[in-house]
Order: sequence, then C-alpha cells, then structure tokens
Amino acid sequence: MVNYKGKVAGIIASSLDGFSEAEINDMVEIPADNRMGDYAFPCFKLAKAMRKAPHVIAGGIADKISSHELFCKVENVNAYVNMFLDRERFMREVIGEVISKGAGFGRSEAGGGKKVIVEFSSPNIAKPFHIGHIRSTVIGNSIYKIYDFMGYDTVRINHLGDYGTQFGKMICAYRRWGNREDVVREPIKTLLSYYIKFHEESEKDPSLEDEARAVFARLEHGDPGETELWQWFRDESLKEFSRVYEMLGIEFDSYAGESFYSDKMGVIIDKMNEKGMLQTSEGAQIVDLSEYGLSPAMIMKQDGSTLYITRDIAAAVYRKEHYDFYKNLYIVGSQQILHFQQWIKIIELLGYGWAKDCVHIPFGVVSLEDGTMSTRKGRVVFLEEVLTKAVERTKEIIAEKGVNTDNIDDTARQVGIGAVIFNELSNSRIKDYVFSWDKVLNFEGETGPYVQYTHARIASVLRNAGVRETEITPGMGDCGLSHITGDSAHELAKLIYKFPEVVSDAADRYEPAIVTRHIVDIAQAFNRFYHDEHILVDNEEEKRAKLALAYSAKTVLKSGLWLLGMEAPDKM
Ligand code: ARG
Repeated sequence: MVNYKGKVAGIIASSLDGFSEAEINDMVEIPADNRMGDYAFPCFKLAKAMRKAPHVIAGGIADKISSHELFCKVENVNAYVNMFLDRERFMREVIGEVISKGAGFGRSEAGGGKKVIVEFSSPNIAKPFHIGHIRSTVIGNSIYKIYDFMGYDTVRINHLGDYGTQFGKMICAYRRWGNREDVVREPIKTLLSYYIKFHEESEKDPSLEDEARAVFARLEHGDPGETELWQWFRDESLKEFSRVYEMLGIEFDSYAGESFYSDKMGVIIDKMNEKGMLQTSEGAQIVDLSEYGLSPAMIMKQDGSTLYITRDIAAAVYRKEHYDFYKNLYIVGSQQILHFQQWIKIIELLGYGWAKDCVHIPFGVVSLEDGTMSTRKGRVVFLEEVLTKAVERTKEIIAEKGVNTDNIDDTARQVGIGAVIFNELSNSRIKDYVFSWDKVLNFEGETGPYVQYTHARIASVLRNAGVRETEITPGMGDCGLSHITGDSAHELAKLIYKFPEVVSDAADRYEPAIVTRHIVDIAQAFNRFYHDEHILVDNEEEKRAKLALAYSAKTVLKSGLWLLGMEAPDKM
C-alpha cells in the first residue's frame, strides 16, 4: 500500500530547501479533527533555519503543493499547512489493496521468519483453571496471532505448573483422605478439596508439611509410586484444561511444563557454581542480587530440592538451545515481576547475551467483587463456568431477539465465547480489574458482539445485493468512487488504511487492546456510513462502489477479530 505520510513528506520536502524527507516525515502530523485536513505540517520549527515567520513559510509551502494530484485542497491555517487528500484517489487505493489481498491485508513480512516463543496460559496442575488464568490465556493467544500476522515464526508453549512441593501436599492428602472414584469423576475440584484440607490440617499438625516435603523429594528422585500418582493427577487435569482450550479455540505447540526440566537443572547449578554465583544461606543455595537492587534468589532448598525459579532458568537455556529464539515472550501476571527480573538477571550473569531477548509481558490482577481470589480458601470462579454461562446467556438473547442464524448453538458459541475474549482484551493488559458477571454477560455498547454484529450486518448487505464474496474484484467499485467521497465513507477508509500500522504497533507494545480499540472504531465508522448512506441504491456504479467499501470493512473486521482469537459469523 502507498505510504501516504511518506508521500506527503516527500512533496513538502521538494517544496523546501535544506530539509531531508526524513526530517519532514517526523514533523508531519495526522490531525485528530478532520476539519484540519488528513495531514498537517506545522512550520514553527523551520522558522529559525529559514529566517522567516512560520505562517509565511506555511503559506509558501501551501502555494507550491496545492496543485499536487494527491490533494484536493491545501490550506495555510495558523502556520500549519493543512492537506486534504483527493478522496476518490485514496479510496481507490485502499479498496483495491484490501480486495486484492483479502485476509492477507495487513499481514507483513517484517518478522522475516524469525522465531518467537510465546509462552502463555501455563496453569498449575490439579488446581482450578479459574478466571485469573483467562488473562494469560487470552492475551497470550492474541499476541501469538499478532506475531504470526507480522511474519514471525511462532512457537506456543504452555509451561504447565506440574512440579513442585505442592505435589507433595496433594499426594500426601490423597493418601490420607482421598478416593479414586471422586478424582476420576471431578478431578480438579476433588484435588482442590484435598489441597484445601491439607492446609487446614497442617495448621493443626505442622508435621504434615514435613511429610509433604519428603514425598516431593521422593518424586524428584523418581520414586515409581509417587510418580504414578503425579502422572495421573497431571493427565486428569490436562483433560479439564483441554476442554477449556477447545472452547476458546486455542492450541499449543508444546506442553513442556516445569517437570520437563527436572533433569535439566543439574548442569545449570553446576555452571552457577563454576561461576561462583551461589552462596549458602541457612543451608539453602542462593544468588545474591543486592548489587542490582533485587532480593536474593533461592535456587536450591536445604533438602536439595529445586524451585520454580530454578526451572525457569533451565527452561530458558533449553529454549535457546532447542529453538534458537529471536524473542522469548512470557505472558505472566504482574505479581511475578520480581521473579522475572531475578531469573533474567541470573541468565545475564551466567554470560548469556540473549538474556535481553527474554521478555516478561505482565498483566494486571483480576479480583472478585467480594475480594481477591484464593485457591486455598476455595474462593474461585472457574473459567469453564464463565464460558458456559456466556454461551447459555447468548442463546437466550438470540432466542429473545429472533436473531437470524442457521445454527443457534454454533452462533451462541461464537458470540458467547467471543464476548468473554473481547471483554478481556478491551482494556490495556496492565490494568487490574474486578471480575463481574454483569459485565461479561452484557452485550450492549462497545463489546465483542457489537463488532461481530457489524461484520454480520455487512455480510447480510452483500447477500441482499446478491453479491458473492468470491465475485468481488479489486476494480469493482472504481466507476462509482465519486459517490463515496462523503465524510463517513472517507473516515471509514482512513481507519481501514491504518489497520496494518495498528497491528504492527500492537506487536511492538505487546498490546492486543490496540487492535480491539481499532476494530471498535472501524465498526462504529461503518455503522455511521451505513446510517448516512443508502447502500443498495438503483444506480449500479454507486452501489458497486459502496459494496466494495463495505466489503473492505468486513475483511478488516474479520482479520481484527481473528487477531483477538475470535470468530466472525456471517449471520447473527
Ligand atoms: N504456573 C504459574 C502460575 O500459575 C505460571 C507460570 C508462568 N511461566 C513461567 N515460565 N514462570 O502462577
């Protein structure tokens, strides 16, 4: 697609002496108010070098460039050169590009096949997959899609929390109070109840903690009895997680979780020893990070067992060796900022230059209306329940409103799940938020269903026009472009034009909410256009131009929804 800002900068640069195109490009602005033009150029900074008053410079530039074919009007207002694009020309280019590229519009080769690891979701085995996990899961999936769209070679890893002392506790509790049938019937809830019971009981009888530690130590040494139970808990938990992933349409390339690194920590600990990084503190092995303003990191406990952080260090080294990543991204809550600072610093101290390519992408905390979530206290909202309820509620709404659909179950699933995902990706990821059933199940306003509905509305306009999408060709609207030069059509085209830049920005900032906001803007712009203009008019050329623009909007909405991990039904 033509880089309009670059072109504008080039035109201005050639009207001036002594300024490079790049310098000018940095100064060109896109006014928030379209009455100031599509592009604007402030002349204040040129005054000194040119020894002229800014408004005189602006007047000179405006005179020289006003007849350029790119513009329909150029004004000098308060020392700004305000440039208005030739709308027909711009529209032709935007529509032509979108129609010829289709779902590939906005895709880029910027990633050049470089490998990016996106680690996300990573729930803990035998613990509830609750509303707190939705963030990593949904944000991570979207970041993966955005990077894929940018041409990177992506690897999705689910770093399952399937190791650690809590398994000692779980096994211990199961042996004391457990029942096989209960676990098979409802694995996670049952295992959670054991975990809760363990904590209650160990408050009365602290020796239980020692017992749990001993069990975990045996597990680490490969004891067959402990391993068998652990494996069983893991399998049952994964079955539950997989159900949720399937509902969300999420897949992973690897489920290498913490246990995968159980035999890969020894060499790392040896290397730390060689480098003299480890110190003994109360029998444990720690790395002192005070020089870097960080608290000490415990690498090995007194009883020789390893920790969460030890496994993260081993995992990063393994990933570098195995994947040779360009970037290794971790979508993990902001409570773990210190943890990531510590281990990434340790990787650096081990002499690995690629430490800088390991990026923690934090997000804010979800709490419940009646306070924080607590696994131990059993105060959690299950993710599966949220998704199921959202689908049920959507089905009710569809039935009430008599929505147009061929398959109510399918549509309810696409819209219900989409609503949850969209709600999650509407705010900047770093913001904390309070989970509210009302909010998730509210479909009014700037929500996922609104964007999906706009997409379906365009599909319906195309159906009513008797146009099949496969028949739409890049030049289809060209003869009628003079009919779509109104403000709402032009604004819509500008937002569509901006989509590739928006995706690239979202990738740079690891922020899906940028895409979310943009597709809401496009949906609103389309609905304004739809309100202002009658699309299915008698004049054939006018109609075809309007349909071409509508179809372009639909294409971008669909891609945007895809980037968020949502489906785009054609009827609803
Ligand atoms: N299992 C952890 C938890 O639920 C998250 C793991 C994050 N990833 C990592 N590489 N540390 O808190």
